[in-house]
Amino acid sequence: MCATFLETRLDAVWQERFAALPMKCERDANPGIDEVEEWREWSHRETTPDQERIEEYLDTFDVTGLSILHVGVGNSQFAARFSHRAKLIVGFTISPLEAQQGERLKLANYRPIVRNKYSPGPLGEQEHFDIVIDNNPTTFGCCRRHFINMMASYAACIQPNGMVLTDRVGLGWVVSAPEANPRWSFDFDDWAAMGGVFGLRAARPTEYLYALLARASCVPDLRPQTEGRPA
Ligand SMILES: C[S@@+](CC[C@H](N)C(=O)[O-])C[C@H]1O[C@@H](n2cnc3c(N)ncnc32)[C@H](O)[C@@H]1O
Repeated sequence: MCATFLETRLDAVWQERFAALPMKCERDANPGIDEVEEWREWSHRETTPDQERIEEYLDTFDVTGLSILHVGVGNSQFAARFSHRAKLIVGFTISPLEAQQGERLKLANYRPIVRNKYSPGPLGEQEHFDIVIDNNPTTFGCCRRHFINMMASYAACIQPNGMVLTDRVGLGWVVSAPEANPRWSFDFDDWAAMGGVFGLRAARPTEYLYALLARASCVPDLRPQTEGRPA
């Protein structure tokens, strides 16, 4: 997409919906708000209900051979659950402890990486994924510039029939640090508006699951497991 068109569209959407959020911040070295330790270090915590809903949903599909980017690996139980079916799972976290715990699982096709999702630049060794999962895309938001880094990376790294998946509750959840701006609580229309800026189409496959679909994608592209099975 042409950069000028994208910026014009982004400006319009931002002004209309997100004017309460800062345009820039001074957190280039470490973007996002992560001062609340319990929100960043999740290695020994239970999977959240919103992450669980995403996993339940993916479990209804055949993910064999798919490449998945899991942003916010937490306890890495997502990788433990799906790695024997997926081709590759790359996991992002800002917590070295979470990355170490993921590595200790010794899953051959799982690469947990300490990588800040709000930083600019390519997303790693595998730059195209069938599915990106992030149950808290806005939760740790600091400013437009860093948030857009993340959205641009997600849009650029999904396959032409790929998707970004999030959850209604996680998308609406904002970190409790005093400097956190409550407007980072997004609803479906906010999510759809941001996706539109990057040419992604929003869909709501379940009451809780919110997807952004690349141009050639539709939710059934993930080959439901019931296909071809005897009734
Ligand atoms: C509340 S935990 C949720 C973990 C898991 N997704 C779940 O729902 O069970 C938040 C996760 O997001 C990660 N995280 C927070 N800020 C991040 C950032 N800027 N870039 C990448 N990961 C981040 C943390 O390291 C942690 O894995």
